[in-house]
Amino acid sequence: MSRDLVILDHDGGVDDYLATMLLLSYRQFEPLGIVVTPGDCYINAAVSATRKLLDLMGQSHVPVARSTVRGLNPFPCAWRQAAINVDHLPALQPPGELATGLLAETGQAFLARQLRAASRPVTLLVTGPLTTVAAALDLAPGVEHKISRLLWMGGALEVAGNVVDCEHDGSAEWNVYWDPPAAARIWRTDVPIVLCPLDVTNQVPVTTGFIRRLGARRYYPRSDLAAQCNALIAHQGCYFWDVLTVAYLGRPDLFTVRECETAVVAEGLSQGRTVVRPGGRRVQVLDGVDVDAFYAHLLEQWAA
Ligand code: RIB
Ligand code: CA
Repeated sequence: MSRDLVILDHDGGVDDYLATMLLLSYRQFEPLGIVVTPGDCYINAAVSATRKLLDLMGQSHVPVARSTVRGLNPFPCAWRQAAINVDHLPALQPPGELATGLLAETGQAFLARQLRAASRPVTLLVTGPLTTVAAALDLAPGVEHKISRLLWMGGALEVAGNVVDCEHDGSAEWNVYWDPPAAARIWRTDVPIVLCPLDVTNQVPVTTGFIRRLGARRYYPRSDLAAQCNALIAHQGCYFWDVLTVAYLGRPDLFTVRECETAVVAEGLSQGRTVVRPGGRRVQVLDGVDVDAFYAHLLEQWAA
């Protein structure tokens, strides 16, 4: 039986690597490639860590492409530096040359080309800003229908945002705030959107207790790496933002979903805010999750 096609576009945050590991553990999906967007990272470190991760997972056939887009509002340096830490983790130091290649073409060109060539519709899984997707659709305007759904970690509908920045009111989530016009551009397409906003990710913090449970399984290479990654962010009040998003692919039964009419604020003091607006763009929103089952699922998937 043919597996569902998926392309991951991540932006190099610590939870992006954890999300990548989770995706690669789902055998029912066929990853056509991974694009790294220079959002929550320093891009060279993020691309390097992604390639090492693919080697570690025994999936070096999955191509990696570096997006060259730019956002309007950079992520905090302290967040971005974590990509360098991940790239230097003991578990990610291969003895020789990397088997996973880096494509010469840009991430946005790769995405456009893959969608054009896809024999059947593709799930686009985005755990960073939407800028690379917007650029790909500009390059290949006819490919929208090749995207079966865009599953996106982004937005804060009825809770506070996580952006702390000058000349901003704190209502936005970072993946939207990095490039609000790009999100607004995607909102104008017909692509089916499934949103995993802060409203639901707030339910799944990275806790000391969970890191302990992972650490107890560190004889599994993936659990070890996941525990090391989580240790880097344990002090920051971080959540399994991107990991929860990916879990929806593998275990949709853990979630409740509702349909919402929404809008993106593209400029001003609330730029990047996502709001519920009657008559607005229809999206599916991940609304609730079985939290205990989610954590148990992670322990299970990373035990290999
Ligand atoms: O706001 C959280 C999001 O910003 C996550 O995707 C995290 O990885 C960063 O990109
Ligand atoms: Ca991310």
